Amino acid sequence: MNKRKNLYIHTIGCQMNIYDAERMGRYLYPLGYVVTPFLEMADLIIINTCSVREKAEQKTYSFLGRLVGMKKKQPGLIIGVGGCVAQQEGIRILQRVPQIDFVIGTHAISRLPQVIEKIEKNKAFVVDIDGISTIEDDVPCADDKKKDHVTAFITIMKGCDNYCTYCVVPFVRGREISRLPEAIIHEINTSVLSGVREVTLLGQNVNSYGQKQGLCSFHELLSRVNDIGGLWRIRFTTSHPKDLSDDLIRCFGNLKKLCHHIHLPVQSGSNRILKLMNRHYTREQYIEKVDKLRQYSPDIGITSDVIVGFPGESRDDFNETLDLINHVKYDSLFMFKYSDRPNAPATRFPDKISGPEKKERFEELLALQKKLTEKKHQDLLESVMHILIEGKSKKQTEIPKDKKSSMEQWTGRTSTNKIVNFLGNQDEDTDNSLVGKMIEVKITKAFPHSLWGEALTPLVKLR
Ligand code: 5AD
Ligand code: SF4
Repeated sequence: MNKRKNLYIHTIGCQMNIYDAERMGRYLYPLGYVVTPFLEMADLIIINTCSVREKAEQKTYSFLGRLVGMKKKQPGLIIGVGGCVAQQEGIRILQRVPQIDFVIGTHAISRLPQVIEKIEKNKAFVVDIDGISTIEDDVPCADDKKKDHVTAFITIMKGCDNYCTYCVVPFVRGREISRLPEAIIHEINTSVLSGVREVTLLGQNVNSYGQKQGLCSFHELLSRVNDIGGLWRIRFTTSHPKDLSDDLIRCFGNLKKLCHHIHLPVQSGSNRILKLMNRHYTREQYIEKVDKLRQYSPDIGITSDVIVGFPGESRDDFNETLDLINHVKYDSLFMFKYSDRPNAPATRFPDKISGPEKKERFEELLALQKKLTEKKHQDLLESVMHILIEGKSKKQTEIPKDKKSSMEQWTGRTSTNKIVNFLGNQDEDTDNSLVGKMIEVKITKAFPHSLWGEALTPLVKLR
């Protein structure tokens, strides 16, 4: 084993990037790199970027500026850029910020050790954004997974073939390809053996899993995952409404372990804009699917993504989006102002919406959703829900002063994906004793982004 060195990975963006960051850590471990949470201690810093929206890309460059300042004081520091911006921009990042040492694309992560070895030996710049790795190259060796987690992301497919006109993903993540079901089941089995109780199956559009390669369908995969002993909960993301089949909808009624939550990005409530976005469904078809989901799972949590200010979006189009949101009543919503992305066709569309107009629509949407989420949370007061405890809350805000010595604030999620914080007794022997327990809580307070509950299960006796 080489001398120990510190690796700091700064991840911007989606779950796929978080998963990639874990892989980077694992690939560099044999070279002596250990992940550190402290930027100042790092010998190697990787920015793991996202280019889906312009704002994320701007964040990358401003963080790089800070690192360049660090490198002036610490010349041996190695700085690299990975993820979607790396894939998209390649050598242009080096031209813009010559102080960095390497750029590594999303298809090249398994070659990261060779890239770092080259830099350590020759102090040379390296750009590796070349092609095609097989999907199994790109997923971790299952035995290597982190051992201290109750929840795990499991990549089941990569890339996307949908070419929504605003989206950069097909250009930076490549064409859709699914992993073999056996490899997925093996990875989940191994995770369960190391203590994982909840898995989230990941892909840009999990609903079309396996179709292109003639593997099993997504609902069949879910049913196989449901049979894994020791696993308690299954989630998945993201779903494209056009591929949400009746078979899959029925799973919410039939599969015991499948959590009652679906992230179903609608993007717009106007049929005209949906067509321009190349989404292949109408608002009526979308609403029909939502109704069916609620028929099989009346309490299902539904979340979505909405883009405001897509080129050509009129006030009437936007009103239709507001109307759809009022009708569906999402549990929560991710809202984005449209931005032009390299290669995405909408970049060349006419009738761009001005910045102030986008801002106004965004604020209006925000206010509407805030009201809807508040109401949803209020309606849950006094109800009893099961949560899987994931750990201690980052902020310990709600601890009554007199109880401070013995109580701590813990956090978990309901099947419907609501975050619930509560007070629990810390076990004296094992620091994390509550992690991984499924408990009942009574909801007593509602906040904008979370709920507060009272634990009904006698916590310290749980084992
Ligand atoms: N502009 C704004 N939002 C975008 N998204 C994707 N591309 C863009 C873009 N060019 C949003 C979509 C998608 C989410 C991940 O990011 O809503 O579902
Ligand atoms: Fe992008 Fe559309 Fe693919 Fe989602 S489905 S990743 S929005 S192209």
